[in-house]
Amino acid sequence: MSTPTKPIPLSRFLIEEQHAGRINAELRLLIEVVARACKGIAHAVNKGALGGVLGDAGTGNVQGEAQKKLDVLSNEILIEANEWGGHLAGLASEEEETFVEIPHAYPRGEYLLLFDPLDGSSNIDVDISVGTIFSVLRSNLSAGEKLENKHFLQPGKQQVAAGYTVYGPSTLLVLSVGHGALVFTLDRETGSFLLTQRDLRIPADTREFAINVSNQRHWFAPMQKYVAELLQGKDGPRGKDFNMRWVASMVADVHRILSRGGIFIYPRDRKEPDKPGKLRLMYEANPMAFIVEQAGGAATDGTRRILDIVPEKLHQRVAVFLGSKNEVEIVTRYHHDAE
Ligand code: AHG
Ligand code: MN
Ligand code: MN
Repeated sequence: MSTPTKPIPLSRFLIEEQHAGRINAELRLLIEVVARACKGIAHAVNKGALGGVLGDAGTGNVQGEAQKKLDVLSNEILIEANEWGGHLAGLASEEEETFVEIPHAYPRGEYLLLFDPLDGSSNIDVDISVGTIFSVLRSNLSAGEKLENKHFLQPGKQQVAAGYTVYGPSTLLVLSVGHGALVFTLDRETGSFLLTQRDLRIPADTREFAINVSNQRHWFAPMQKYVAELLQGKDGPRGKDFNMRWVASMVADVHRILSRGGIFIYPRDRKEPDKPGKLRLMYEANPMAFIVEQAGGAATDGTRRILDIVPEKLHQRVAVFLGSKNEVEIVTRYHHDAE
């Protein structure tokens, strides 16, 4: 029997990426700091009721959503960890109305960090997996230029790194710096994230879908047709049975799809017709689309590749169809046919 090779820590992986010329020292520091902050969030999530972190914060965010204590705490942890290191030009968060500037006392760097500090908030109080999603862009600021909203409004294809964590039975960090997607598992004894899977690949075909079916009556025609055909299974035009899962934490649903294939859908619907979807483009859809494409999958908003969308607002919402390539192509074709 061959001896299993010891998994390498995130720090070593990042140094090797730097030596290979795929990331620079500043981006390495950024990812290290985000990972360290996420360990802090994982610790708070794990403590649960014992840490006094469950329940509502009694406040709301700019999206009009009630904030949980853990939404607020995770946001604070990420901002405090990242503002002083000199690797960022600015930050943006689901929980902050406007972008966050680096305090004058601290040095500035070349990157912008955007995040959903705690994804799956509705699952916090019921002990179901939640996570953090993050996206990294270059600020492209010239010397002396003041940081503005427009610097953040770049299409997702310009991301230089993206990742998410899952605070679940184990704490995972899934990362891409544009050369495939990798999984790191937190070793709670040593406190290191260890590389447990390289080169994630999403199977092109699937028999599993994820959607909140309680919204069915609000869906538009292409969605009605697509899901009706999935539900007909072997007896319908698809000729095979499909299974369904919906965790209601995007991190957990997307992680399952990265692990064994599937399609994740949050469509635009008539429930809130003025909103082009529920999920946010810049810190939910873009980083997930980046990782999914790096793993050989696809991500669209029904008609366009997510990563090509030029954002107009920091908290812009978008419809999301992502996962197994052939399945995303089918549902995207149904939307094109309906146009
Ligand atoms: P957040 O907790 O950051 O606001 O995001 C929740 C999102 C996403 O994680 C999940 O896929 C979706 O909302 C669930 O929505 P429903 O409750 O409508 O099913
Ligand atoms: Mn979210
Ligand atoms: Mn959130």
